[in-house]
Amino acid sequence: MRVPLMAGNWKMFKTPAETTVFCERFLPLVASANHCEILLCPPFVSIAAAVAATQGSTVGVGAQNLHWQKEGAFTGEVSAPMIKAAGCRSVIIGHSERRQYFGETDTTVFKKTTAAIEAGLQPIVCVGELLEERESNRTNDVLARQVKDGLSGLRPDEFAKVVIAYEPVWAIGTGKTATPDMAADAHRFIREQVRLAFGEDAAAAVRILYGGSVKPDNVKGLMAQPEIDGALVGGASLKPEDFSLIVNF
Ligand code: 13P
Repeated sequence: MRVPLMAGNWKMFKTPAETTVFCERFLPLVASANHCEILLCPPFVSIAAAVAATQGSTVGVGAQNLHWQKEGAFTGEVSAPMIKAAGCRSVIIGHSERRQYFGETDTTVFKKTTAAIEAGLQPIVCVGELLEERESNRTNDVLARQVKDGLSGLRPDEFAKVVIAYEPVWAIGTGKTATPDMAADAHRFIREQVRLAFGEDAAAAVRILYGGSVKPDNVKGLMAQPEIDGALVGGASLKPEDFSLIVNF
C-alpha cells in the first residue's frame, strides 16, 4: 500500500515572513488529513521559518536542490547534511527548471540522489519529457534514460528511499495538465523501468508523483489513477486554500 505524498514546490516564491503566514493559514486546513504525507518545499532562506511554523504538525519540510559534496569551496551551494540539519525531511532533485536553466543532467541527478540518501533525506527525483520529445514520440526513450542514468546505479537499499516525480515539462506552469490517462501511461512505463532495474518489489513500492498544473479541480481525476501516488504542485501550492483542497482531494 503506497501512502500518497502531496508536495508543494514553492520554487522562488515566499520570504520567511510569507512562509510563516502561509503555515498559519494552511495547517488548520489540513489538520485532519491523515490519508497522505504533506510536504512544503520553500526556498532555502525560508526553510527555517517553515520548520518552526510546522513544528508539532504532520507537515514536513523539504529543499528544492542540493550539492552532492558535504562541504567545500562551492560558493552559493548548500549540502545534504546542511539541509538535514536545518530540519528538512526531503529534497527535490533534477527538477526540469534545474535541468533547463542550471545545466543539471542525469549524472548530477545521480550524485545528488546518492548524497541526499547518505544524509538521511528523502530524494524526490524529477523526470519528464519536453514538448518536442512528446511530439516526436520520444517520451518513453527520455523517461527510460532518466531512470537508467539518474537512478539505476543506486543500491537497492538506497533506491528504496527514492520518490519519483513525473513532470511532463510542457505541463509545468502552462495550465496544460496531462490527462489522467496520459499521466498513468507514463507512470506505468516509469514503474516498468524500475522493475527492470530493481525488481518487482521495488517497482510495487516506489511512489511516483505527478506534477504539472495540478489544481484543486483536476487533482481528483489524477489521484483516481492507481498508478499516481501523489502530486508535486507548483503554483497552486502557494495559496493555502488551494493547496489544502489538493491535499484533501
Ligand atoms: P505547476 O504546478 O505550477 O505547473 O508546477 C509544477 C512543478 O514544476 C512542480 O515541481
